[in-house]
Amino acid sequence: MSKRKVSSELLQQKFDELARRNDEAELGGGVKRLEQQHARGKLTARERVLILLDEGSFEELGKFVVHRSTDFGLDKESYLGDGVVTGYGTVNGRLVYVFSQDFTVFGGSLSETHAEKIVKVMDLAMKNGAPLIGLNDSGGARIQEGVVSLGGYADIFYRNVMASGVIPQISAIMGPCAGGAVYSPAMTDFIFMVEGTSFMFVTGPNVVKTVTHENVTAEELGGATTHSTKSGVTHFASANEVECIAGIKTLLSYMPQNCEDDAPRVAYAEGNESRPVLNDLIPANPNQPYDMREVINGVMDDASFFEVHKNFAENIVVGFARLAGRSIGIVGNQPASLAGVLDIDSSVKAARFVRFCDCFNIPLLVFEDVPGFLPGTDQEWNAIITNGAKLLYAFSEATVPRITVITRKAYGGAYDVMNSKHIGADLNYAWPSAEIAVMGAKGASEIIFKKEIAEAVNPEEKLAEKVEDYTTKFANPYRAANRGFVDEVIFPDQTREKLIKAFKMLENKVAKLPKKKHGNIPL
Ligand code: HXC
Repeated sequence: MSKRKVSSELLQQKFDELARRNDEAELGGGVKRLEQQHARGKLTARERVLILLDEGSFEELGKFVVHRSTDFGLDKESYLGDGVVTGYGTVNGRLVYVFSQDFTVFGGSLSETHAEKIVKVMDLAMKNGAPLIGLNDSGGARIQEGVVSLGGYADIFYRNVMASGVIPQISAIMGPCAGGAVYSPAMTDFIFMVEGTSFMFVTGPNVVKTVTHENVTAEELGGATTHSTKSGVTHFASANEVECIAGIKTLLSYMPQNCEDDAPRVAYAEGNESRPVLNDLIPANPNQPYDMREVINGVMDDASFFEVHKNFAENIVVGFARLAGRSIGIVGNQPASLAGVLDIDSSVKAARFVRFCDCFNIPLLVFEDVPGFLPGTDQEWNAIITNGAKLLYAFSEATVPRITVITRKAYGGAYDVMNSKHIGADLNYAWPSAEIAVMGAKGASEIIFKKEIAEAVNPEEKLAEKVEDYTTKFANPYRAANRGFVDEVIFPDQTREKLIKAFKMLENKVAKLPKKKHGNIPL
């Protein structure tokens, strides 16, 4: 008994000694490392983890790992933990695995051992079915280590792919990230960036200048604004690191732990679900824009809409919200931007979101007001055919409960694409303002009555007459409802109540895809 006590005391002493050494290493022999990061307007790797996780929940793994390299002076410089803090803990009581790179250790670069630590938490996350969160602050593969660091990245990439669709993977970019430090996040489900202090590029401004002679700043090339508006690489741009970490926590609250789990539900007591405010949202003039977010906010639980990819391809709105406490993935055409037209960027943005929701059992709700696909050489030459097909493919293969509400226009191919019944949606509702047709009444009349209009005594009058005729016949939801393509024409104020009932009805939906290895989405 006493022997065991002595040995455990010794063990504790040893541990305290090592922990002290580690703290010194972490702080760079005082507060140097902390100061370095704070001077750059950044938190340290450990501070980030502590802010992310519930207080006292972090369990660190691999604290004493050091690199094995001896080339280029690495034999003289090594740090406990080797530039990455890894482990597990909880966010709002739910298990997550985390790694957080330390830029003050060789620029957060990835050595063989640094990679092994990340791989260890990835494997644990997969085996135990919990999300993986990567806080990236790294110059990529550690240059001094050569191929072993490249191998380390490949080990991580492979696991990113194996984990895709099994557990949610979330990346935050919290410093200048290059090479593998951007390719691994690119294969995760969601990317956050911090304005002003984080950058993502495959090759930095200096290499760009040498190769293409372009003068570009790091911010212009790969800052948060660039990637949240131009490239769409990042889904969220946060004003600072604390806001970024808060965003990660909010995002997690909408998703399940893994692909066999359901998203957590928030308690909700049903009451009067009528929302009269929705009756006044659609303008009388069908060409006048309105903000689809107002429809979403009016239908879903109060303040529950969490928009994803907000500043990219604004002609489509995607995000998570709750309906009677249930987590739902929303896709809405946005008439306030480019009249809500579908183009390359909006198709790809929505397709990726739809696929995430389908991977993780999050039902899909579509608000449709779409005048069609965007015409033009830019779109055609950049493959709107292939890219638009991605959204069609994504909806068609989704087996989660799927409902569409047509608020106004459902024109042409876009009618098919936007979660129509024909491609497997469970229910389609339409508001009385819906127009379901091959195209707008004017364009349609100009084509099919071209000759008649040209030969008329008063062509303008003839056109107006034909437009009126076409509008009466097709610019409404009743033709589609006659055929059962629309299940019910509902008043806007009834929408929330109808959807609550419908999603409840679909709760135990079972739909299986034909047996196959995997499909071949048009990439
Ligand atoms: C080793 C590195 C490093 C790296 C930075 N450092 N990147 N050490 N390997 N990859 C070190 C620097 O030498 C410096 O050390 C410290 O980190 C801080 O770097 P600075 O350059 O002073 O910082 P900053 O000006 O902020 O620039 C950050 C940076 C830049 C943009 C990340 O360092 C950079 O461009 N690094 C190289 C990026 C790169 O090409 N990585 C390899 C990619 S290949 P001292 O001692 O001076 O403080 C790859 C393979 C994956 O990742 C395959 C993908 C498919």
